[in-house]
Amino acid sequence: MSRVYNFSAGPAVLPEEVLSQARDEMLDWQGSGMSVMEMSHRGKEFMSIAAQAEADLRELLKVPDNYKVLFLQGGASSQFAMVPMNLLQGKKSADYLNTGSWSKKAIAEAKKYCDVKIAGASPDGKFTVPAQSDLNLDPDAAYLHYTPNETIQGIEFPYIPECGSVPLAADFSSTILSRPIEVSRYGVIYAGAQKNIGPAGLTLVIVREDLIAEPLAGTPSMFNYGIMAEGESMYNTPPTFGWYLAGLIFQWLKRNGGLSAMAEVNERKARLLYDAIDNSNFYQNPVDPACRSWMNVPFTLADAALDADFLAGAKAAGLVTLKGHRSVGGMRASIYNAMPEQGVRALVDFMADFEQRRG
Ligand SMILES: Cc1ncc(COP(=O)(O)O)c(C=O)c1O
Repeated sequence: MSRVYNFSAGPAVLPEEVLSQARDEMLDWQGSGMSVMEMSHRGKEFMSIAAQAEADLRELLKVPDNYKVLFLQGGASSQFAMVPMNLLQGKKSADYLNTGSWSKKAIAEAKKYCDVKIAGASPDGKFTVPAQSDLNLDPDAAYLHYTPNETIQGIEFPYIPECGSVPLAADFSSTILSRPIEVSRYGVIYAGAQKNIGPAGLTLVIVREDLIAEPLAGTPSMFNYGIMAEGESMYNTPPTFGWYLAGLIFQWLKRNGGLSAMAEVNERKARLLYDAIDNSNFYQNPVDPACRSWMNVPFTLADAALDADFLAGAKAAGLVTLKGHRSVGGMRASIYNAMPEQGVRALVDFMADFEQRRG
């Protein structure tokens, strides 16, 4: 078996230890005689897997008791609609921060349901976030939505927006579990699983109980936080295998010291890569150093004509999926929790070698 260092933005690398455990349990989960994939979601085996996963996640993120944790389907993209459908609650408008590609998608979807006011934005062509003092917040907004980490641009908020009594909704898809989160500052936190949580197909939602109320008229049952919370995410058949695998990831995180330990390693990994970029005359990262993502690191080569050779050389060295998003170009290294430090070191070594040979 030969495993590569996979820098994909998502679906992304998962801890090898977890994949091996899932393999070992694949045909016979703990003496049940069947795979988790084959279990009834209402049977006692799966119910115990589901409850353990939720308990472990609550412990890792220190989720207060007045929050529901939902294990849903539909990806983070479904939340772009579910947030307005559930949180408008009779109001007509919501505030949004626009800091990149995923904010824009969330905004476009929300416009189908309400007036969207842009309360702050990254200036055109600038890879940064607006300062708290520059936000133009509406105290009557139903909620404020933002994207703590823009996966494509590699921009991360260095602060949690303060919006008084207006609930804060956040798309944590590409940064959840990378460090502790102050959950009580948020009304809703959501994330697609396929980066730091587990396989694609599972969507995590953490929502404050008092925000669960009658949704917009016509909201499908599957999009109704209340119905999903009431049914403990089992209103219909949930994504059982994804839920199970997420549970294994949560246990792996706990074994490895939890989110504070993750934060230390992630900061170190990011610093290694940004230092390599900043200390060269060949690589460049466009993001304001104050809001550089720990998870997604875009960078360009001094000469874009060398991109293909860089990617081919990297692949030969076992470093894959480094091509940048088409809207940004160049390269992007996603260094989620499961990317080992050695993987980042191998990338940095390859970059130095490539610069020496071709720069
Ligand atoms: C920040 C962010 N939001 C939303 C999405 C969309 O997620 P999904 O594909 O789960 O709908 C992504 C996917 O990469 C993302 O990075």
